[in-house]
Amino acid sequence: MAFDLLLKNGVLPDGCRADIAMSDGFIQAVEPGITAEAAEVIDAGGKLVSPPFVDAHFHMDATQSYGQPRVNQSGTLLEGIVLWSELKQLQSREDIVARALKYCREAIGKGVLAIRSHVDVTDESFNTVEALLEVRDRVRGVLDLQLVAFPQDGWFRSEGADANVVRALDAGVDVVGGIPHFERTMADGAAAVRAACELAADRGLMVDLHCDESDDPLSRHIETLASETIRCGLQGRATGSHLTSMHSMDNYYVAKLLPLITEARVNAIPNPLINITLQGRMDSYPKRRGMTRVPELLAAGVTVAFGQDCVQDPWYPLGSGDMLDVAHMGLHVAHMTSPDAMRTAFDMVTRTPAGILGLNFGLEPGKRASLVLLDATSAIDALRLRPARLLVVSNGCVVARTTPSTTEMTADF
Ligand code: FE2
Repeated sequence: MAFDLLLKNGVLPDGCRADIAMSDGFIQAVEPGITAEAAEVIDAGGKLVSPPFVDAHFHMDATQSYGQPRVNQSGTLLEGIVLWSELKQLQSREDIVARALKYCREAIGKGVLAIRSHVDVTDESFNTVEALLEVRDRVRGVLDLQLVAFPQDGWFRSEGADANVVRALDAGVDVVGGIPHFERTMADGAAAVRAACELAADRGLMVDLHCDESDDPLSRHIETLASETIRCGLQGRATGSHLTSMHSMDNYYVAKLLPLITEARVNAIPNPLINITLQGRMDSYPKRRGMTRVPELLAAGVTVAFGQDCVQDPWYPLGSGDMLDVAHMGLHVAHMTSPDAMRTAFDMVTRTPAGILGLNFGLEPGKRASLVLLDATSAIDALRLRPARLLVVSNGCVVARTTPSTTEMTADF
């Protein structure tokens, strides 16, 4: 049997050596010493072969806009939201498309082949939604772009936002979003969670809320999200993004909360680069780092993936689309430095978010022929070095190659 593409001599994230044979856009075989012919044979040279990187939380309508129209001086979430409101009035649909495509190219070069992006539906022009729907079409077949109808200015706080969420879903946006901690009152926040979950259940969709992105330990919308997930039958289809207030909650309350999240099978998506940047800004010392309780969520059996969230936008001046940067920061902030924990952190930017997005990614027969060859020898080595992605394969086609930079040592010692 002749395959379309055969990648030989790779090392998988679990440390096993294998060849990977691909045909018709799917992985056909993963085993050592495949001898069948293939139209193209590539030698991995003992380097790490990984499932694609997946970013489960991003804002593609705002990316690459840093400094427009001004810089976030306080570094807070709230000033970022005000700044984004100013930018929304100034940008065209074409601006958003151009910036998003530029970002997609950078991310694909880093081995990212799927992104869940929230898209602001409170932009009355609907430029944001129409732009990202266009981008989703243009990158289809190379990058899976899943869109979340996100009422940035509040489901109830922003007039007409609830109708705009529905309008965005009708236009083809995939997932129901929300931001309960930004509503005017805790009661409005709880009502927004209920409305989002009911809408998702009615339409058979997933729901992914910006939930408790706050240092306020009494911001407890995750409790309502878990409860509503059970009531609406959304187990496994609901996600709480950020969950930063859990960092500051009382341990006794968290001991009750964690089993509820597990029972509801609500996924958690912390965003380490952004959470430690935006949170703790009103603290003196010690300053809270603001990331949710990742090891405790994992120990409770919750599905947890790391997201990028922002790259060069009103909330964050840096970022590169490299999910290894995200995992590198995440494992530091979460104290995940044992070998097993670091391998888990690698999964949290590859296999785990693919599961949350419902993607058929993985390095087993029957999975899509999408993978990344890295200039590293193990998952931990990749986290340490964040090396070049030598080869990025999407649906059986090579879509990006990177030649690693080399250093010529001229010192004499
Ligand atoms: Fe976000």
